Amino acid sequence: MKCKTVAVLTSGGDAPGMNAAIRAVVRSSISKGIRPLGVMRGYSGIVSRDVFEMSIQTVSDIIERGGTILYTARSPELLTEEGILKAAKACRDMKIDGVIVIGGDGSAKAAHKLSEKGIRCVCLPGTIDNDIACSENSIGFDTAVNTAMFMIDKIRDTAQSHDRCSVVEVMGRKCGNIALHVGIAVGATSILIPECDFDFEKDIIERIFFSQKMGKKHFIIIVAEGLKIASKITSEITKRTKIESRATILGHVQRGGPPTAFDRIIASEMGCYAVELLFSGIGNKVIITKNNKISSVDISTAINSKEEFNLGLYKKALEISM
Ligand code: F6P
Repeated sequence: MKCKTVAVLTSGGDAPGMNAAIRAVVRSSISKGIRPLGVMRGYSGIVSRDVFEMSIQTVSDIIERGGTILYTARSPELLTEEGILKAAKACRDMKIDGVIVIGGDGSAKAAHKLSEKGIRCVCLPGTIDNDIACSENSIGFDTAVNTAMFMIDKIRDTAQSHDRCSVVEVMGRKCGNIALHVGIAVGATSILIPECDFDFEKDIIERIFFSQKMGKKHFIIIVAEGLKIASKITSEITKRTKIESRATILGHVQRGGPPTAFDRIIASEMGCYAVELLFSGIGNKVIITKNNKISSVDISTAINSKEEFNLGLYKKALEISM
């Protein structure tokens, strides 16, 4: 079947670089003679048929903008049989030959269900968490890590001026990738992530005392949000070490702002690749990066695989962070 119309949507938490991906999808589609439709507010926009025809102009001046011009939503109802049937019917009624979904793992699960109903879907990993199994990168992760790093550089100035310990919680849901990368980039004394057990005495207090012995007077501890322990360990650290400590929860600042060059580039490449797949009649795929190359895997492979945590990098981080 010839691919004449492609719909693009963003779903789940927004991520910097989503706009660059939308732009690539729209322009690459137009250059192949495909009609691109923009879907508003994720999957719910398919069901409510809130779609509009996109042009080269509608995606002008968006490559540098965070967020998503198509808006986004978390739509758990789309994972129900009824929701999927409604979405599939709407796609058929609107003569949509393929759907490009930019989002995280929940969005990929919905795309898989939609594919099972005969709608060709291709997913782009768009999430700051970088927790899509099979892909080394997701759109937004690099920007989030850089944003958190710049914020923590500022926190360090004040921690240093007061000889304090700053405990900083970074986003990432149950995935420690942001915490690990940020922890390395800011030279944290401890990095606490859901993937690895930790011992308060050995992995925090002893490391602080060791650094103190080496002459350090201020400390940065990075905590992944999935652990939900930032404020608790902050008061424990003060009690145990007598070092004045403060907790900072970075929160949604990590999700906004202009995407880095890296995120703009992978978003653009992935967007073009997704259109090529649909143009060749291929669907039910997630675009991934492996060894810095773009390719794809079946959606079922991506959603049924476990994200491999980089334990080697974590061990190196502990070796050099003090
Ligand atoms: O999945 C992206 C993410 O930013 C997570 O890191 C975080 O746990 C979650 O979304 C926050 O979701 P919300 O914006 O709905 O509060």
